[in-house]
Amino acid sequence: MVHELDTFFKPKTIAVVGASRDSRKIGHAALKNILISDYQCKLYPINPKEETILGLKCYKKISQVPGQIDLVLISVPAIIVPTILKDCVEKKVQNVIIISSGFGEVDNHELENELKEIIKKSKMRVLGPNVMGYKNASIGLDASFAYGTPRKGNVALISQSGALGIGMIYLANNEYMGVSKIIGVGNKIDIDDDDLIDYFAQDPDTKVIGLYVEAVKNGRKFMNSIKKCDKPVLVVKAGRSKAGARATASHTGSMAGSNEIYTAAIKQAGGIRCRDLVELFDMAKALTGQPPAQGNKIGIITNGGGLGILLTDACEETGLTIPKLSTKTYKEIDKILPDLIKPNNPVDLSADAGFFRYELATSALLEDPNIDGIIVASVHGGYARPEEFTGAILKMIRERKLHEAYKKPIIATWVGGREYEDLVIDLKAAGVPIYPSSWRTARAMFALYLEGERIKREKK
Ligand code: ACO
Repeated sequence: MVHELDTFFKPKTIAVVGASRDSRKIGHAALKNILISDYQCKLYPINPKEETILGLKCYKKISQVPGQIDLVLISVPAIIVPTILKDCVEKKVQNVIIISSGFGEVDNHELENELKEIIKKSKMRVLGPNVMGYKNASIGLDASFAYGTPRKGNVALISQSGALGIGMIYLANNEYMGVSKIIGVGNKIDIDDDDLIDYFAQDPDTKVIGLYVEAVKNGRKFMNSIKKCDKPVLVVKAGRSKAGARATASHTGSMAGSNEIYTAAIKQAGGIRCRDLVELFDMAKALTGQPPAQGNKIGIITNGGGLGILLTDACEETGLTIPKLSTKTYKEIDKILPDLIKPNNPVDLSADAGFFRYELATSALLEDPNIDGIIVASVHGGYARPEEFTGAILKMIRERKLHEAYKKPIIATWVGGREYEDLVIDLKAAGVPIYPSSWRTARAMFALYLEGERIKREKK
């Protein structure tokens, strides 16, 4: 069944109201982004003063555009927006994005209510006001005014903050994390987080959904959409502190609500609350690149005893357990360790551990039914080359078909400097999440455990 928001994300006809020849203006950037997108559609600039903009025939009004319009982007000063919106209703436009600011977020609730009144009786779906628009990386369409092209992938991102949304594109690219769609929701007079979660739940290009939220307009609908969604939903809910809640009120004109209630409700709905965006990205990388963990029993492999202890503490603190090794695994690992070291969990391979120790230990833990997920850690101890650590993980991933055969996630941690960085990129590009901190690693593994639990609950 075609989703209601399908024409919003895949419009065949787009008009930009407030398109300008002036390259400094937002209406110019929005038109140009659509024009240079690797996406086929009819594109109409709307500006009462111009004949052509960027080589495209310009129309004075929406009503003069021939045929049906699937999507209109509005970038004119707030005071003109109600008139344009009425034109859109009259023209039976299907979807609108209001980029313009100057509404609820600056206490201009009267003007924002006027917009709500205008759209109330129409079937038109409206995003914003006060938004950047969206980038649909799955099909190559950029319907926003912001610079930045996300890498194509499987994470859908929803942001109530426009600037943070744009920052997320660069953060995702840096982390080799592919995005399916990224969208700003701003003041949410119509299209809301729950609509988007419902859409991304059925979007074949999306595996994981991540949200930056300042306030939820309809708590029940929001939680229901998370509950219904059969994909992981990661939520950064801002305004945890009193001062933070005050700041959300002046940013998007919304009330942050009780922090504890949000935490409990998101958990109950089956979502995962993240402390910040980095945690959301850490978890999203793990969830898109690795299979969920079937339980919370984690095996840790390290070449540094200290790092192993830090990882153990972090795992236990976040709700994972580090069980003792089974006799079979103990014997397997004992064969490869120097005489003075005895196997344990965390498995300390000692500082001179190279390729074969890492490979054999990882293999032994993969075979161990008492282990649900594996963390492979390396500290640049100055004995072995870092390539041996990353090479062993890559070999495991490529040759052993981990996902199908074992259904166990492998994630990694590193402590070192520049010599590691290219190798870390190799792992990230191969879909192996790797983190420079024990806490971040443990939280990513915890997300894989929670996802495993969510799937089990769903199957019941
Ligand atoms: N129909 C079509 N075009 C019109 C109309 C009309 N009825 N009336 C005016 N225009 C044209 C103007 O003539 C102008 O074109 P021109 O350059 O050829 O003269 C164009 O529309 C834009 O109007 P301006 O008055 O020049 O407005 P400007 O572009 O300076 O600002 C804007 C408009 C960008 C919407 C501004 O009011 C605004 O809200 N800025 C903030 C936007 C924002 O940050 N949104 C949140 C994003 S999320 C984030 O934080 C990144």
